[in-house]
Amino acid sequence: MRRGVGIIGAGIGAEHLTAYRTLPALFQVRWICDLDLDRAVGIADGIAVTRNISDLLEDPHCDVIDICLPPHLHLPVACDALAANKTVICEKPLVTSLIEMDKLEAADKISTGRVFPVFQYRNGLGMSQLRALLALGLTGNGQVATLETHWSRDADYYNTGWRGTWGGERGGAVVTHAIHIHDLLTQAFGPIATVQARLATRVNPIETDDCAAILLNMQNGALVTSSVTLGAAGDHSRLRLVFEHLTAESDLAAYAPAAKSWRFTARRPEMQSRVNAVVAAASPPPVGFAGFLTDVSNALDGTGQAVTLQEARASLELITAIYASDQTGCPQNLPIQSDHPLYDGWQPKEHR
Ligand SMILES: NC(=O)c1ccc[n+]([C@@H]2O[C@H](COP(=O)([O-])OP(=O)(O)OC[C@H]3O[C@@H](n4cnc5c(N)ncnc54)[C@H](O)[C@@H]3O)[C@@H](O)[C@H]2O)c1
Repeated sequence: MRRGVGIIGAGIGAEHLTAYRTLPALFQVRWICDLDLDRAVGIADGIAVTRNISDLLEDPHCDVIDICLPPHLHLPVACDALAANKTVICEKPLVTSLIEMDKLEAADKISTGRVFPVFQYRNGLGMSQLRALLALGLTGNGQVATLETHWSRDADYYNTGWRGTWGGERGGAVVTHAIHIHDLLTQAFGPIATVQARLATRVNPIETDDCAAILLNMQNGALVTSSVTLGAAGDHSRLRLVFEHLTAESDLAAYAPAAKSWRFTARRPEMQSRVNAVVAAASPPPVGFAGFLTDVSNALDGTGQAVTLQEARASLELITAIYASDQTGCPQNLPIQSDHPLYDGWQPKEHR
């Protein structure tokens, strides 16, 4: 089925639009909405533009509202869209606290629309290869992993009014940037049990964090370290996942570390040819946003799965635990319960 779409926010929304345009049988973008109308016009190329979100919500042919707004606007706009029985695609972080997550889940329950959080790093050849190896039981248990989100951001990047602020971005590098690699980790190793973290602001003069050192104990016993900075020379992301029977190494592409083939090295050389055969047989899926949107279409048609609300909640629980550990100096257990002191937000109290 072909679905009508309204994109709200013409920043990363421009990349969503590019992906929709590669899927004309699945989606037709009907609206680009942005308060900055020139920015909307700049990408619209004939699609209707508006400054008013209500134009999208009142359009009976607009089935999907794609929210590409700063994080503090995700919850209210998603709830309005669900109240209009629209399906919601929403950029990360889906919302900015676990109490907001409760509100979104409540709105989702009473709507005929559904919510699809964006985690497009999952869509790519490297992750398909890893999934194939996992499905065949060729990896064994995860043992240790190192993750790097080493990117570069400067004053230009923060020149938006919302980035780097507790009020707008609602967090720093562990919310906005490392959220993707942590999602990939849980796809590979399963749920996280315990979190210890130290955060710092060392690169730019912002309110929120831009560096982190994080130690994760996974439920399966694996130990993981995640290093995050926005002050690296250039941008790269890297995952090195050591399983019992093989080691998986991602590509370094910062914003699509799973797009290309990964390197899989068997621990026992006699297993390498079997691993190579499985890796070679993994067919290249649509990558990034196009892959994510294909998953959404399949999920809506009942023929596949996309990112779930539960997975977005898990990502917010991890963020909550990271800030709590940094603030208290104590390890934090997951999942986060509703009586946790940061359940209503990891931000300073005046910004919750
Ligand atoms: N998945 C990814 O890889 C990825 C990459 C970049 C950004 N993001 C996420 O996308 C979201 C947007 O980030 P961005 O970099 O595009 O930000 P941006 O500031 O470049 O763009 C946001 C746009 O929203 C518009 N806007 C703000 N309030 C509005 C309103 N009430 N109505 C209509 N338009 C409004 C602004 O005018 C602006 O053009 C953030 O949540 C960010 O974390 C995700």
